[in-house]
Amino acid sequence: SHANALKGVKLMLTAGPTREAIDPVRYISNHSSGKMGFALARAAAAMGAEVTLITGPVTLQTPPGVQRVNVESAQQMLDAVMDKIDNQDIFIGCAAVADYRVAEVASGKIKKSSETMQLALVRNPDILATVAAHEVRPFVVGFAAETHDVETYARDKLNRKNLDMIAANDVSVPGQGFNADTNALRVFWRDGHQDLPATDKLSLAFQLLSLISTKITKK
Ligand code: PMT
Repeated sequence: SHANALKGVKLMLTAGPTREAIDPVRYISNHSSGKMGFALARAAAAMGAEVTLITGPVTLQTPPGVQRVNVESAQQMLDAVMDKIDNQDIFIGCAAVADYRVAEVASGKIKKSSETMQLALVRNPDILATVAAHEVRPFVVGFAAETHDVETYARDKLNRKNLDMIAANDVSVPGQGFNADTNALRVFWRDGHQDLPATDKLSLAFQLLSLISTKITKK
């Protein structure tokens, strides 16, 4: 039974896409719907956790008992996360954060003129790595959206970002990952791994959180 597996645990997670403005009416984003992150928030609250959900723009209802903070850009998501990170026991980065933002956001709507145009982009801060490097550090779980060599890239992110665990999904599989109702996860930590086969995102959320609960030492 899941009922009290996360009782008294403070859990923060990110969900959804970020939007990086180009001008007042346009942005760069991705296909994340927020379904995986919201399923995790719902499951964590049902398991007794005190849940803070930092989300990009999505069309989903806030799960019962969950504290929700809405943001748009990666920078706003980072600020919202760092504002409440102290005293969190678990952090899960499920958001599909844009790796780049537009170097100079135009103050007015960009008019069309020449046949081609170029947008200069600059790297966004890495939210997960920033949390993992924080002085009082929660148990940090990343996601990895990959299209090939899933284990290699997931383990590389685990090590490079100094994470405790990473949940990898192969987003090239039809019906899984971005915007789908189902997903499959391959979970890796320093000295182990577990495959969570394809099922609906809420079932997967309960399974991933159960696995996390066996690894954390409750404060
Ligand atoms: O929202 P859904 O439609 O339900 O789809 C779910 C999902 C496919 C978006 C989700 O399962 C998922 O894989 N989320 C992570 C997507 C992603 O951006 O993966 P990544 O491999 O690019 O990033 C690796 C990790 O670093 C992620 O935990 C990400 O949140 C984090 N990151 C990335 C860039 C950045 N600037 N800051 C970050 O924190």
